[in-house]
Amino acid sequence: MLNGKKIVLGVTGGIAAYKCVDLASRLRKKGAEVHVILTRGAQNFVTETAMREISGNPVITSMWGEIHNYDVEHIALATLADVVLIAPATANVLAKAAAGIADDMLTTTVLATRAPIFFAPAMNSNMYENPVTQRNITTLQQRGWQLIPPASGHLACGTSGIGRMPEPSELVEVLENYFAGEGGSVESADGNTMDSTMGNTMQGLKLLVTAAGTREPIDPVRYIGNRSSGKMGYAIAEAAARLGAEVTLISGPSALQPPAGVEFFGVESAREMRQLVQERFPACDIVIKAAAVADYRVKNVSDQKIKKNDAELTLVLEKNPDILKELGEMKQPHQTLVGFAAETQNLLQYAKGKLEKKNLDMIVANDVSKPQAGFNVDTNLIKLLKRDGSIEELPLMSKKELAYIILDRVMKLRM
Ligand code: CTP
Repeated sequence: MLNGKKIVLGVTGGIAAYKCVDLASRLRKKGAEVHVILTRGAQNFVTETAMREISGNPVITSMWGEIHNYDVEHIALATLADVVLIAPATANVLAKAAAGIADDMLTTTVLATRAPIFFAPAMNSNMYENPVTQRNITTLQQRGWQLIPPASGHLACGTSGIGRMPEPSELVEVLENYFAGEGGSVESADGNTMDSTMGNTMQGLKLLVTAAGTREPIDPVRYIGNRSSGKMGYAIAEAAARLGAEVTLISGPSALQPPAGVEFFGVESAREMRQLVQERFPACDIVIKAAAVADYRVKNVSDQKIKKNDAELTLVLEKNPDILKELGEMKQPHQTLVGFAAETQNLLQYAKGKLEKKNLDMIVANDVSKPQAGFNVDTNLIKLLKRDGSIEELPLMSKKELAYIILDRVMKLRM
């Protein structure tokens, strides 16, 4: 997967920088072309000579030094990169990247590149958990950049907690997984691989995906939610980005990391989701609504926490807007609209009804009463219903694999 890939490895000034010697070595052994940028801080932990010897390429340590080979220096690295990996990423570089500061070679490359960027933060747990750092991470993720979460364990500062950089072998695996979907193969639930011959077939298309369940507030501490994990929608967003589409993912709360190269927005309620979806809809070619949107919200949300005074509590619910139905009414001929139907009975009948009522081009129907299908599992058992009345029944597969199949069928509808 990494053979011939051009990887820009940015190393910043944390103690975990010593691991980047091993990391660069592993990447090179896999056939990757590694170009290292060391920040000033990183040079206190690892030398230019070591990284040059290990990577087999000149190492960039400053913006202002003598240029030895213009092809691989300055902005050229930003253009050449297939991927940028910043490991370790200090709180400082996360903050600078989030703010768009470009005061050294690494942050300049971050700002100038169009390649996906992976950040592997490593720092003291208080620094990592600090709301400022967390806000910066969210900002980076919203730009479609990927965070490789730190592990928990013993930290160099003598304490233990979250903040350890994952081992070099794990970082290599993250990049391998990333490149795996680029016209390569996808793995099915039974462990077999399936050829994905789609290549870059979604290049030039704008795709909007919604995922996960919405939360409807009851009071400042409670909400009504559902069991959707977001796995199906995130898999579709990730697959579409790998196929070259320009992807926006709008998600309810989810434990999943937004995929690399995807513009990300986190929302809570159906009405927040509706506003963002409607703003973006006119510019989209394809919309896939995998989100489990709450059909109802609490009518009078309490400003204060509700106290348990009475034996019974009645919540009055009012209907939420049906986002997908509204899109079906606004849809232009060049736009393709795909919905999901999660049912526990009369699957085909209900799904067909939604396809028609919401003016969809295709609906993905799944019977959530089956244990390997539906909410919060890695596999799914689906039927695809199209406008022409055709029904395609797919075998049990991983959600990641199904994502490619759903996108393939969407592309065929557009031919
Ligand atoms: N959906 C939506 N907005 C809503 C409810 C649902 O956009 N307020 C979308 C979902 O994202 C999904 C599809 O509509 O793609 C199916 O949702 P579902 O709730 O099953 O449809 P309903 O018509 O509400 O059917 P039911 O009678 O089963 O509630």
